[in-house]
Amino acid sequence: MSYSTSIAGIKLQHPIFNASGPLCVTLEELHDIGASHASAIITKSMTKEPRLGNPEPRYKDIPHGSINSMGLPNHSCKKYIEYLPQLRKHSKPLIASVSGLCLDDNKEIIRALNSADCDLIELNLSCPNLVGKPQIGYDVEQSDNVLKEILSITKKPLGVKLPPYFDFVHFEQMAAVLNKHQVRFITCINSIGNALFIDAEKEKVIIKPKGGFGGLGGHYIKPTALANVRKFYELLRKDIDIIGCGGIYSGTDVFEFILAGASAVQLGTVFMQQGHTCFERIEKEFNHIMHRKGYTSIDQMKGTLREL
Ligand code: DHB
Repeated sequence: MSYSTSIAGIKLQHPIFNASGPLCVTLEELHDIGASHASAIITKSMTKEPRLGNPEPRYKDIPHGSINSMGLPNHSCKKYIEYLPQLRKHSKPLIASVSGLCLDDNKEIIRALNSADCDLIELNLSCPNLVGKPQIGYDVEQSDNVLKEILSITKKPLGVKLPPYFDFVHFEQMAAVLNKHQVRFITCINSIGNALFIDAEKEKVIIKPKGGFGGLGGHYIKPTALANVRKFYELLRKDIDIIGCGGIYSGTDVFEFILAGASAVQLGTVFMQQGHTCFERIEKEFNHIMHRKGYTSIDQMKGTLREL
């Protein structure tokens, strides 16, 4: 029985680790992930310069998930490049999440990461929380150009974090771009952008930035996340691995993402809400399901979802 999996040729002991976003900004938080049962460590999306992010309150738990508009608070690529070798003691793959504010920034960060101590890069094409900055992943031509430029620079295996798509034509257009470039993996999905949660008693929004609009996470988004994993599994070259993300709270959720075609999964809202113990709990639940159903490897079940 093996729970191991791999992303772009990098081996993970099991498929479950953190999503970029919650509790992965500071060195201490990153060490906590290292000390947990997470199978890899991914950083908060880094920019060229440090950022304090948007005004608070900027994250709230809501009945079936979360809403946030953090605004990319992070310590800068320079700092994360200093942190990475210190995280090696946890003996887990290290993933740098990159979200430069413009193409030139992304190029500079990617160049700096070429000599940094990380195994993979996740380029974020889907931050929904920057005022005046549309999500790159919703602009197919811009995505094509960004990938052309960035992949000509990077020396590390690079994947992209995508926003959710809702239309088969959009899946096909994005898949055509991804298939054209040497993208090694995709992570889908980022939060569903620009949702609005209202406190009816107070007759108010619940987060401060952007008039209360923010990225939606948690249970609300699992069916959309599964649909994105499945559709890209159908459309992408088989050498592009898929990391599922969105509304995973249990081992059964992990199993569903792997059936849909994911090689690994990331935990966002549940990690924020329950802390690092969620990795061990969900790993145990997932192992139990694999055992009960008689599977002996991730590859045996990956993508095997049946239609009616
Ligand atoms: C933030 C949110 C995102 O969904 C993302 O991909 C990157 C950054 C943020 O608000 O910090």
